[in-house]
Amino acid sequence: TVHERVDTFHDNDQKPVGYGRMLRKEDPRFLRGRGRYVDDVQLPGMLHLAILRSPVAHARIVSIDTSAAEASPGVKAVVTGAMLAQQNLAWMPTLSNDVQAVLATDKVRFQGQEVAFVVAEDRYAARDALELIDVEYDVLDPVIDARRALESDAPLIRDDLDGKTNNHCFDWETGDEAATEAVFARADVVVSQDLVYPRVHPAPMETCGAVADYDAVDGKLRLWSTTQAPHAHRTLYAIVAGLPEHKIQVISPDIGGGFGNKVPIYPGYVCAIVASIVTGKPVKWMEDRSENLISTGFARDYIMRGEIAATRDGRILGIRTNVLADHGAFNGTAAPVKYPAGFFGVFTGSYDIEAAYCKMTAVYTNKAPGGVAYACSFRITEAVYLVERIVDCLADELGMDPAELRLKNFIQPEQFPYTTKTGWVYDSGNYEPTMRLAMEMAGYDELRREQAEKRARDELMGIGIAFFTEAVGAGPRKDMDILGLGMADGCELRVHPTGKAVVRLSVQSQGQGHETTFAQIVAEEIGIPPSDIEVLHGDTDNTPFGLGTYGSRSTPVSGAAAALVARKVRDKARIIASGMLEVSVADLEWEKGAFHVAGDPGRSVTIQDIALRAHGAGDLPEGIEGGLEAQICYNPSNLTYPHGAYICVVDIDPGTAQVTVRRFIAVDDCGTRINPMIIEGQVHGGLTDGVGMALMEMIAFDEDGNCLGASLMDYLIPTSLEVPDWETGFTVTPSPHHPIGAKGVGESATVGSPPAIVNAVVDALKPFGVRHADMPLTPSRVWDAMRGQARPP
Ligand code: CDP
Repeated sequence: TVHERVDTFHDNDQKPVGYGRMLRKEDPRFLRGRGRYVDDVQLPGMLHLAILRSPVAHARIVSIDTSAAEASPGVKAVVTGAMLAQQNLAWMPTLSNDVQAVLATDKVRFQGQEVAFVVAEDRYAARDALELIDVEYDVLDPVIDARRALESDAPLIRDDLDGKTNNHCFDWETGDEAATEAVFARADVVVSQDLVYPRVHPAPMETCGAVADYDAVDGKLRLWSTTQAPHAHRTLYAIVAGLPEHKIQVISPDIGGGFGNKVPIYPGYVCAIVASIVTGKPVKWMEDRSENLISTGFARDYIMRGEIAATRDGRILGIRTNVLADHGAFNGTAAPVKYPAGFFGVFTGSYDIEAAYCKMTAVYTNKAPGGVAYACSFRITEAVYLVERIVDCLADELGMDPAELRLKNFIQPEQFPYTTKTGWVYDSGNYEPTMRLAMEMAGYDELRREQAEKRARDELMGIGIAFFTEAVGAGPRKDMDILGLGMADGCELRVHPTGKAVVRLSVQSQGQGHETTFAQIVAEEIGIPPSDIEVLHGDTDNTPFGLGTYGSRSTPVSGAAAALVARKVRDKARIIASGMLEVSVADLEWEKGAFHVAGDPGRSVTIQDIALRAHGAGDLPEGIEGGLEAQICYNPSNLTYPHGAYICVVDIDPGTAQVTVRRFIAVDDCGTRINPMIIEGQVHGGLTDGVGMALMEMIAFDEDGNCLGASLMDYLIPTSLEVPDWETGFTVTPSPHHPIGAKGVGESATVGSPPAIVNAVVDALKPFGVRHADMPLTPSRVWDAMRGQARPP
């Protein structure tokens, strides 16, 4: 069901070129099975690499014997951490200014950590030889629970760091502690709740991998890799390997889903590069599902205490939170340098409050590194979950309807741009219409009546609301960089003589349809049909520099760049047109695809005519060079702040405690909508992710640090069977600073849906006196919650 409502901006479905529903240009390739992924890359003489991983979470390496593996048929090389150390390559920087072992030298620090690798003629020979490597481990006590990490007798994990005597990773705070204390002191009502956002994994369909091809003759390294940030990776390789950037080409071909998992640089990529340099051959490394789940960037793992202060009549005064963040064995979070906790600072949500404060401590544990932005803009998912759960707890305490409480506290449209109490400047928003539309689509009052009737019959039905504001499009270079690289994006547009065009982007699609939507952005500005505009991305030799795709930043940053570069080309086209029509530029009017003389529409030249003239014979206006192309680098002045209202309806089987999501209404506002069909696809995917996190997914560990979620039999991800028909709607509040008014949307649904679902489940369990239950709300957890309250032990 799609409810469409256009409030403040145009929806150009009817226009011949530009924005609107358009089938994806990339799909004929994908639907025919002709996508070209890293594992499809086959090079002559290519060897295969397999990684030996630690079976234990914490141990000292006593010895490694590789002799049997070296003698195994087909094996070309066996490499250990000690060998890498001789070349100063055993450790590499992470994106968070920590270091991470490429191959362990002294100790292993999580189960699944890279210990050695084998290069062989084929994948099977490489894997067989792994079995022959004999490692002697001196097993140490692991630290698995973040709360244990800071105890004075906890084992020390990072003894590789000079002078390190504990497992403390970083402290961070935001907001005003004293002001918050003051509003809490005078509030009528204070509610606090402990919440856990469990460790989950982005689990993209395609696991991580690379093909490295180092050519010793010309000294050039070509690397095909599963990366969401080819340019940033190239710079890091240049720094680590000491190769100049122009001698490194990173190619990110079709990518089978990223969700933040493909932002970090993994040891496997570096191993493939080293292996190609050592053997003089191309080398492929492709991890399997278990390797992906146990060793690559996880997400969340926040233990939070949320507190909210309000007046008795439901005016929210302040929000305070204390967070214990588990960063695993190495701090592999990818976030702008100034933001070690990502954008968690938006935990004040969509509410106009008087004060807020957050204190966070992050720790090392013997678990895989990560803390990646899994389909969210750097920890926004955690922030939104915190605020939307705690607001529901307050509604419960006040005996107020959760929709009414939210409506009462929204930031009002005239308050934008709105600076939050933690310093974020929300660019634009109009929350009430979005909320009202969701309520109207849901039939909210009718649902509450139905719930009351069911409760009277002891049936368990719940209605959950979440309202979110995201901060996406990192980001302004004055505030944001990753390892010193500013987060601006380049973009280049070339119009060929016959009026076809190619736009080169620094961002990289992992399934979001960039080949279509970026062609639409350019088409809208310059009037060339999207089918005539080729989008090139994911190849550092052939695209301008930029920081990559994550945190829904493509549209806010590169989307703006694409619009502006097209305008630049149009400006040049206007001058050429003035020469062709022999009038001054001021006398020309632009109508999508052509310039005509003002007042004389019959005298016109199309953009295709102009392209031919730009490249053809004859004079051009004075000072104008031939060709029709431009390049820019766009530095966003602010983030964009999309918002949304989600309503979830669940039924719980009182006999089995199984939760069924019966309905889910999602109203998103991402400003100007480029391709509504793609947006719906993004929202459907994100909502499905949300069902997974809320009800099914958790990367758990036993007390020895064994990962219990190492396969998709153990780590449950949702399928179409677990999700309802999504009901989507939208409002449109353009971003005032984005050239086309667009805000990001790729991750909104992943951010907004978990609290809506948990709020619905808790609402269903109200008759048992339940006020909170932690994700994932599996039948056993829901059962425990019901029993805990209904039949106290
Ligand atoms: O960075 P990422 O591509 O993951 O996220 P995004 O910028 O939110 O874009 C996701 C997809 O939705 C892209 O194909 C966008 O062009 C499209 N989109 C849109 O059509 N209209 C918007 N206002 C925002 C995104």
